[in-house]
Amino acid sequence: MFMKKTYITTAIPYVNGVPHIGHAMDYCLADVCARYYRARGDEVRFQVGTDEHGNKIFQKARELNVPVQEYVDTNAEKFKKFIAKLDISYTDFVRTTSEDHKKRVREIWQKLSEHIYMAEYEGWYCTGCERYITEKECKENNGVCPDHQKPYEKLKEENYYYRVADFKKQIREAIESDEILILPDFRKKEMLRLLEETPDVSISRPTSQLSWGVPVPGDESQVMYVWMDALSNYITVLGYPEQAINDWWPAMAQFVGKDILRFHAILWPAMLLGLGLPLPKVLVSHGMVLSNGQKMSKSIGNVVEPMEVIDKYGLEAFRYYFLRHVDTFADSDFTWEKYSDAYNNELANDLGNLVQRLATLAKKNSIVVEQPLEGLTPSKEYCDLMNEFKFARAFDVVWEKIQSLNKRIDDEKPWSLAKNGETELLDKCMTELIKDLLQANYELIPFLPNTAERIVGIFANGEIRPPESPLFPKG
Ligand code: MSP
Repeated sequence: MFMKKTYITTAIPYVNGVPHIGHAMDYCLADVCARYYRARGDEVRFQVGTDEHGNKIFQKARELNVPVQEYVDTNAEKFKKFIAKLDISYTDFVRTTSEDHKKRVREIWQKLSEHIYMAEYEGWYCTGCERYITEKECKENNGVCPDHQKPYEKLKEENYYYRVADFKKQIREAIESDEILILPDFRKKEMLRLLEETPDVSISRPTSQLSWGVPVPGDESQVMYVWMDALSNYITVLGYPEQAINDWWPAMAQFVGKDILRFHAILWPAMLLGLGLPLPKVLVSHGMVLSNGQKMSKSIGNVVEPMEVIDKYGLEAFRYYFLRHVDTFADSDFTWEKYSDAYNNELANDLGNLVQRLATLAKKNSIVVEQPLEGLTPSKEYCDLMNEFKFARAFDVVWEKIQSLNKRIDDEKPWSLAKNGETELLDKCMTELIKDLLQANYELIPFLPNTAERIVGIFANGEIRPPESPLFPKG
């Protein structure tokens, strides 16, 4: 049988620290997408990984007095554990220090060589962003990076440059025509403006300045710029260049934070054009997770530990909150109060109680639903929203169904039908309620896969069995 092949990617985090709550955004959004397309019958390849080169990581390992490779090995493992804890259904994990990746990136460099030239770079650099800063930007920010609160460094060195100018026109046209679809739409203009301002990009550093990177082929005195190395991961993980990747590339969607959209909308397309590969189809750029209204930072002391959040009410609560209450495209706040409210009032009250009430009533009255999973298909409204990557809105639609089921039970009062001996009516009412719950549950799969499976286990595996303990105990 022919299966559509769908490739989904996430940004690969730097391993200069442990995973934090913001990293979960990329993973959870991409995971919903992957599960949705799988449920539709696609064969999905889903990449995650770690970005392990660059100054930031090198400096951190030095500070801690640990050999760099050992440092990145330890931290990459922490990201792997975090991704597993989030139950992310990835298929490929890429590390930029792996031999395969390094070899492939060097081949990519060689393929791009006609667009690469050597020149002197004199200007600014932000190690926090791992990015070259224009004079204009440096002036606007008074020489200090607003995201990292660190002064920009002045660099004067011989570097290789990538001639982005060769591709600007094509990239502009692709963004304008939505051949590269940038979501949300308002970021499209921002990227077009940045594209015009982007000079050719310096793509190497002298080893005298930075030794932790992939050596430039044919010039061991230079290592590659970390972004060139990192962006390549999306195709090296597919085996490029030695393997044909056209079954998978271009990805159906690439998930990135708004802070790194510029690399994906400008440098990445320029690299792909240089390689003669198709442009990205969709760049979904999500907002930032804030803590009490502020960007999370160790110095402010408002960093929220993801493991603590997951352990408080379990993984399903974490996914529920991040996928429904954290706005995909805008910045959103995490507070423990909002988290507890969402868990107790919505997961426990709306869904947990609904399942408990329906299952208990069904068991008590020996209700049997024939072929309960037959004919389940997601609604058009839900699919339209999912297809447009409006996951939180689609989740709202599912939740409205769950809430309306609670209201229907209150209105139709099946327990009264039972009491009055109206067996036929009771049977019809309960069957409809259970079928509609399973319909909503079907749409819940990408968001809360474990809960959805439990609900199927309760209602659709022969005899209906109420859960022995509440699905979401109040806390
Ligand atoms: N290494 C680069 C990405 C290379 S992709 C070829 C990088 N790493 S990062 O660790 O800084 O960020 C990884 C991802 O996490 C990015 O998509 C970034 O936007 C996201 N987030 C980091 N902090 C975040 C929040 N506070 N909130 C939401 N997303 C956040 O950039």
